[in-house]
Amino acid sequence: MNRGFGSDNHAGVHPQILHSLTLANQGHAPSYGTDEWTAQATEKFKDHFGSQAQVFFVFNGTAANVTAMRALTRPYQSVFCTDVAHINVDECGAPEYLAGCKLIALPSTNGKLTIPELEKAFVRRGDQHFSQTQVLSLTQPTELGTVYSLDEMKELIFWAKERQLRVHIDGARLANAAAALKVSFKEFTTDLGVDIVSFGGTKNGLMMGEAVIILNKDLARDFKYIRKQSGQLPSKSRFIACQFLTYFENDLWREIADHSLKMAQDLYSAVCEIPGIEITQKPESNAVFAKIPSSWVKTLREKYFFYVWNENTFECRWMTSWDTQPSDIQGFAKALKELSL
Ligand SMILES: Cc1ncc(COP(=O)(O)O)c(C=O)c1O
Repeated sequence: MNRGFGSDNHAGVHPQILHSLTLANQGHAPSYGTDEWTAQATEKFKDHFGSQAQVFFVFNGTAANVTAMRALTRPYQSVFCTDVAHINVDECGAPEYLAGCKLIALPSTNGKLTIPELEKAFVRRGDQHFSQTQVLSLTQPTELGTVYSLDEMKELIFWAKERQLRVHIDGARLANAAAALKVSFKEFTTDLGVDIVSFGGTKNGLMMGEAVIILNKDLARDFKYIRKQSGQLPSKSRFIACQFLTYFENDLWREIADHSLKMAQDLYSAVCEIPGIEITQKPESNAVFAKIPSSWVKTLREKYFFYVWNENTFECRWMTSWDTQPSDIQGFAKALKELSL
C-alpha cells in the first residue's frame, strides 16, 4: 500500500528496530521481565528519566494508560483530562471500566488544558456525594499535534501539586514532544514532579510495546500485580525490551522524531498557502491539521490515505512518520493544488 498521511501507526517498523528483534531472537532467555534486555533497557530509561524511574512494559498505549490509572486512583476518584484526550474519546471507556475511576473531560484550547477550566472544575472537595479528583492527565504532544511548552507544563503541574493531585502524562508520542521542545525527557517529567508517564514507542518506529514509567515510588509498589491482573505482563519480554534498547542507543528515538517533525513542517509549508485549505493547529509535532472542502476528500484519499478528524467541519489530520519522504509531500501538495484549481 502507498505511504500516506493516515497515522504514524500506519508506518512499518524502523529497520534498526526490526534488526534488534532478530538479534534478540537467539536461544532461550528467562521470561516475564527477568531477561538481560529488560535489565539493560530499564537502565536506559533511568538515564533519561532519573534513577528513581521504575519501568514496566505493556503491550499498547491504552494498556499503559489504563494500568497507570489503576495505580493512580481509587474507584471513588476522578481524573481531569481534555475533551479530546485519547483516554476520553478513543479508548472505548477502558479507563472507566478497568480502573473504575471517573474521567472529567474539560474544554480544551488547541488540545490543551488551561488553568481557568481546571479552576472551574476543581470543586466539592470532601463532599461525599461527589467523585473526588485525584489526577491531572496531560497528553504531550496533544491529540491535535500541539505541544505544551515547558512553562505551560510547569504551570499546570504546579497547580495540580499545590492541590495534592497526582500527575499523569499520556506520552504515546513523548519523543515527538522532546524533539519539538529540544529538551530531555527528564526536564518535562521527573523534574516537574510527574508521577507516571505512559511512554510510547510504537508511533515512533517500534513494532509494538509501550512502557509505564513510574516516578513516584509509592505508586510502583503494587504495580506488578496491577499489570499482571490487567493481562499486560508480556511473557517474552525481551522482544519489547530489545526494541527500546535500540531506540535509546545512539539517540535513534530523537533521529526518528526529528525526521517526522521536519516532514510535518515541510508538509505545512507546502500546503498552507493553497487556496481552499485552512490550517487549524500549529504543526508543533508530527501532524498537520487542516480544513479542506469536503468534495476533495475522496479524490485525495485515493492516492494518499488520511483521516477526516471532524466529520462536521472536514478538519483533516495529516500525520508524518519515520518513513515519510519529501516525494510524498511533493506529491500530496501537487494533488491538493490540482484540486484547488
Ligand atoms: C495520545 C494517544 N494515547 C494513547 C494511544 C493508545 O495507543 P494504542 O492504540 O496503542 O492503545 C494513542 C493511539 O493512537 C494516542 O494517540
